[in-house]
Amino acid sequence: MKLSRPHGGTLVNRQITGIERERLIESSSSMPRLDLSPRESSDLELIANGAYSPLEGFMDSVDYSSVIVNMRLTNGVAWPLPVTLSATNEEASAFIEDRDVGLYERGRLIGVLHLTEKYRYDKQREAELVYRTTDDAHPGVHALYQQGTWLLGGRVSVLNQRHNPAFPQYRLDPSETRALFQLRGWRRVVAFQTRNPVHRAHEYIQKCALEIADGLLLHPLVGETKSGDIPASVRIQSYETILKHYYPATRTILAVLPAAMRYAGPREAVFHALIRKNYGCSHFIVGRDHAGVGNYYGSYDAHHIFDEFDVEELGLTPLFFDHTFYCRSCGAMASNKTCPHDPTAHVTLSGTKVRELLNAGELPPIEFSRPEVAQVLIDAQQALLTEQLVGS
Ligand code: ADX
Repeated sequence: MKLSRPHGGTLVNRQITGIERERLIESSSSMPRLDLSPRESSDLELIANGAYSPLEGFMDSVDYSSVIVNMRLTNGVAWPLPVTLSATNEEASAFIEDRDVGLYERGRLIGVLHLTEKYRYDKQREAELVYRTTDDAHPGVHALYQQGTWLLGGRVSVLNQRHNPAFPQYRLDPSETRALFQLRGWRRVVAFQTRNPVHRAHEYIQKCALEIADGLLLHPLVGETKSGDIPASVRIQSYETILKHYYPATRTILAVLPAAMRYAGPREAVFHALIRKNYGCSHFIVGRDHAGVGNYYGSYDAHHIFDEFDVEELGLTPLFFDHTFYCRSCGAMASNKTCPHDPTAHVTLSGTKVRELLNAGELPPIEFSRPEVAQVLIDAQQALLTEQLVGS
């Protein structure tokens, strides 16, 4: 049985071992150095382990322009988001093209950039094209505006693991998930991206998708998220809890994606899909307002963007879901597509309302959240409040 081919044809591996690794470590002491942001460290890890195949490094100016304008690399391969490494004026002055740069995360050497080009770029243009807004209040745009004014392009070599990677028990590289799917005899594997604790709507769309697949990869993103999002540790706990009670272990795998959120809505939906293709998945769930934030994107913009790609160039099938909820008249989970009843019969709760309930130690309705999961969130909230009280 064959799994989906990696994007671009070959699974990239830029994790260097043996003599080449020793040679680079030795020469790193004479290289100029660059300290990576959390997002850049995540990107480096994901380039090296093949999750971003066919990328072998950070984009040069030609690929960067092609991606922000055409959503494709210069060789025509679909790629919706820039993957770039930035530097300030002062940092960039130390870097010379065709010379290596040591890449550090919190003082620890992680890898080397084989710098081929340093170039300036237009942040407003990138914001407009990629995020569809130049508003600094958008978290992805804000991060872009905070970056240095230079970008550094070139292949990378990763030499050392990141310090204390989070959730080691759930970290599987694309080659490892692929091996696991093969072992289980899965060919049609559906992936679910999330940055939130699991609720009934998530569970519903995951299980609808599993009905037509051999297996489900639950793949919460655990890289940097905006302040205000629920911490990754709590989100993982919510999954551990629901898996124990409500999911078939033989058909479900929980693993983490160490990527950072960009909140780029539609473009990020395509990005998320291609990454999961590299992990060996054949299908990818795209629900309502995927990777969105605030009101920057229409609820289904992340569905419509897939029309801009041929099925063959994506090489993975997106599964689109409408807004889903529990409907009291249906007596079941349903969506705008399947439910004929008046919205007053729907159990929908705003994020603010859910937070209010949890803060008061109250369980949201069972139709909205599994009580076991809601209890995890209440406990986490109480622990946070206690911590704040002790700290104040
Ligand atoms: S995201 O930033 O990772 O997209 P989130 O964790 O909230 O955020 O969503 C994970 C996936 O579930 C996304 O595909 C999203 O569109 C989908 N989703 C979340 N809530 C609903 C809902 N009520 N109805 C349909 N799809 C939903």
